[in-house]
Amino acid sequence: MHKKILVTGSRGMLGATLLPLLKNYDTLGIDKGNCDITNKSSLAKTIGNLKFDVVVHCAAYTDVDGAEGKTGSAFLVNEEGTRNVIESINNKDCFFIYISTDYVFDGNKKTAYTEEDIVNPLSIYGKSKLAGENLVAGLNKYIIIRTSWLFGPNGKNFISTVLRLAKEKETIEVAGDQIGSPTYTLDLAKAISDIINIYFTKGITSGIYNITNTGFCSWAELARYIIKEAGFKTHVAEIKSKELKRAAQRPKNSMLSKEKFKGLSGYYLPTWQKAVQHYLKNYLLN
Ligand SMILES: NC(=O)c1ccc[n+]([C@@H]2O[C@H](COP(=O)([O-])OP(=O)(O)OC[C@H]3O[C@@H](n4cnc5c(N)ncnc54)[C@H](OP(=O)(O)O)[C@@H]3O)[C@@H](O)[C@H]2O)c1
Repeated sequence: MHKKILVTGSRGMLGATLLPLLKNYDTLGIDKGNCDITNKSSLAKTIGNLKFDVVVHCAAYTDVDGAEGKTGSAFLVNEEGTRNVIESINNKDCFFIYISTDYVFDGNKKTAYTEEDIVNPLSIYGKSKLAGENLVAGLNKYIIIRTSWLFGPNGKNFISTVLRLAKEKETIEVAGDQIGSPTYTLDLAKAISDIINIYFTKGITSGIYNITNTGFCSWAELARYIIKEAGFKTHVAEIKSKELKRAAQRPKNSMLSKEKFKGLSGYYLPTWQKAVQHYLKNYLLN
């Protein structure tokens, strides 16, 4: 019998990319349109009679700046929603995969964050995602995947925005003082699918795993790379992140060490440059 997998946030940037990769399993995707995770009876009606082997919990309140004025909404989805999903699952042995973020860190470390580093989120979004992590960490079988700077089809993201602005403007201003790893949803989704396969074949020790594309850059470096690859001449003016006057504070250092994932899977994800090239060529420049 096919193993049964639930993907929450199945219409979001990551969920919509992941679902088709799991075609060898019996999958169910839920999203706000067909099942609101903040509504227990909606969850009971949709998944109450089903027994899942794996849950990939991608659904989240992801508006990082919006969350600053809406603490309740962010915690309602990212903490309460996560609790509701956990409580709706009829299987204590279900393997729960929770997608989390580099924003659980304050960015004060000088080198890449490992899975053992102390968390200290700066933003409401980061705090609410950490609250979700803490619930998942109490389960029998789980992993928490910390990732960063997502881009890919099925959603608005930094790369599509830079490309749009590059067509309209001669100069764009981008922060040069935040460093991290852009992560392509296609590569992350493949890693998640591989993790599920490893879980079914060999088993996995519960815990946290950092997964991003390989290499680090600033947002300004990323913007320059996008513009060069797309063949535009737009100038990137490097500014300080505080000049952007965004509501949420973000970590200056978002670098995540990927050694633990390499130990599990045997590979590193492609470099962020390769990932950006693939996304531009296959989704944005034709
Ligand atoms: N994007 C990033 O840069 C980034 C970085 C690190 C980690 N992450 C994490 O990665 C995961 C996937 O992110 P993403 O970029 O794919 O996010 P996304 O595109 O915003 O997708 C999240 C999905 O969750 C759905 N959702 C929100 N509230 C819901 C609710 N109450 N009930 C059911 N579904 C609900 C959203 O529906 P609506 O669109 O209708 O609200 C959306 O389809 C998230 O857990 C996020 O925290 C993202």
